[in-house]
Amino acid sequence: MHPTTTTSEPPQTLLDLITDVLSLLLLSTVTVQSFVGRWQVLRTKLTSLQSSLSSLSESPLWSQNPLLHTLLPSLLSTLQRLLSLSHQSSSTSSFPGGKLLFQSDLDIASSSLSNHIHDLDLLLRSGVLHQSNAIVLSHPGPASDKEELVFFIHDLFTRLQVGGVEFKRKALESLLQILNADQKSASLVAKEGNVGYLINLLDFNNQPLIREQAVSAVSILASSNDESRKILFEEGVLGQLLRILETGSMPLKEKAAIAIEAITGDPDNGWAISAYGGVSVLIEACRCGSQVTQTHAVGAIRNVAGVEDIKMALAEEGVVPVIISLLVSGTSAAQEKAANCIAILASSGEYFRDLIIQEKGLQSLMYLIQDLSSSDTIIEHVLHAISSLSVSDSSAQILSSSTAFIIHLGELIKHGNTILQQISASLLANLSISAGNKRAISSCMCSLVELMESPKSVGLQEAGALALVSLLTVRWNKKELARDEKSLMKLVQMLDPKYEFIAKKFPVMVVDALLSGRNGGCRKRLLAAGACQHLQKLAEMEVAGAKKALQRLSGNRLKSMFSRTWRE
Ligand SMILES: *[C@@H]1O[C@H](CO)[C@@H](O)[C@H](O)[C@H]1NC(C)=O
Repeated sequence: MHPTTTTSEPPQTLLDLITDVLSLLLLSTVTVQSFVGRWQVLRTKLTSLQSSLSSLSESPLWSQNPLLHTLLPSLLSTLQRLLSLSHQSSSTSSFPGGKLLFQSDLDIASSSLSNHIHDLDLLLRSGVLHQSNAIVLSHPGPASDKEELVFFIHDLFTRLQVGGVEFKRKALESLLQILNADQKSASLVAKEGNVGYLINLLDFNNQPLIREQAVSAVSILASSNDESRKILFEEGVLGQLLRILETGSMPLKEKAAIAIEAITGDPDNGWAISAYGGVSVLIEACRCGSQVTQTHAVGAIRNVAGVEDIKMALAEEGVVPVIISLLVSGTSAAQEKAANCIAILASSGEYFRDLIIQEKGLQSLMYLIQDLSSSDTIIEHVLHAISSLSVSDSSAQILSSSTAFIIHLGELIKHGNTILQQISASLLANLSISAGNKRAISSCMCSLVELMESPKSVGLQEAGALALVSLLTVRWNKKELARDEKSLMKLVQMLDPKYEFIAKKFPVMVVDALLSGRNGGCRKRLLAAGACQHLQKLAEMEVAGAKKALQRLSGNRLKSMFSRTWRE
């Protein structure tokens, strides 16, 4: 049927030849005179090969599988080699090259045999021999069902494991194609494919192109979903990726950094970074990597910065100056992660705060907040970091005395999103700001009043109130607020017990601040707006501060009368 040539036999002919040699070999192993023990072991292997071969020939479409074109000829040659060795073992003559050489030849042939059996079994188990090759070669399209895709993945990984370099390369190409085509295929690949084998391909012993394709695939898998990340992590991918990040070529480093960031995103995996010696590798990647590498390496550091053991190692390896320099000069994605990282470190104790301040981190943060190109997320992280650093007196002093910074906080209160408004207001309330600077941001007071009206967040109400109390220590600001009829009405309305969603102590606090000292006509305006009756009710309800505010509002005449009622 098939033309037979010496270079490539048709699969059936090869299988027949193999079966013949195998039978001879099995007979021969019974009659060997030397190395009897080894031949016994080999005999067991050969018997298992025999049964694998019979399963192979029973698979309907076995002869179409392209992997067998290379597998069968090498199996045949191994068997032939073993046959000739068995003849040597049977004759009583001595071994021409000595026993040691013979022994080593036998070991080599025997381990090739094991590999072939392993590959053959893999091929049989994968189920790919039960499908026509026509399907295998075409990529499953978007309309293909899960079953087709699973089959394709099995076939692909079989080629990857059994085939030579060219097969591997093509298989990886196909793998990348399906991973890129559809996010959902990643979890199927992670479940159905041999992820451990894929990870082995990252090893330096493999060809550069194969490593590059493998790291691309790992990087996509790691970025796609929790399940794939978990499988990759459990198969030990982090160690390989860190080695690549340390010594790979630039494109390899970039992909490794992407994968490392994704995998460390799971808090359960963070510890492994130090276990694999990754701390210094990540810091070095932030220091000298390409922009892409830097961005993802700093993301990975951010991910693990909260882990107690790693935190100290990071500090010892000099992470702080590296992160601060990224804060200033990185891409905006890198800046964002660097700011997040600094915020995490700054909140974790005095040791880190001192380090950050020493490295001029506060100045960089203050600069970043005023940089118009900073995104809201960057500003949010920066504010958190600044807020942690402000616990130290020297930092608080630097912040309080910077007019530009205070004015910027005022702007964020007026125009920022609610998160930025809340942190800015709280920071403003905590700093000791000069009267001049307080006056300079008087225009943010109406926004603070609005913050106090946030029905759902007591935190916002409190931040708004505390910042107002601080700003209202300046007489000019009291007058300003009293003149702003709308804000005044809102404050009085918030005092009304009917508005239950406002915690009453906050508007009481602000009204009290308005009334304290020389208040520039605030009292008259509040009385006219009807604050008195609300405060009376609040005082009866024993709301903190209400009684004192009421006394200030009503003056001494009412004071005596009220204290009488109070006693009764
Ligand atoms: C302001 O001080 C309070 C009390 O010490 C603290 O809980 C809060 O986090 C501080 N706010 C900021 C933004 O630092």
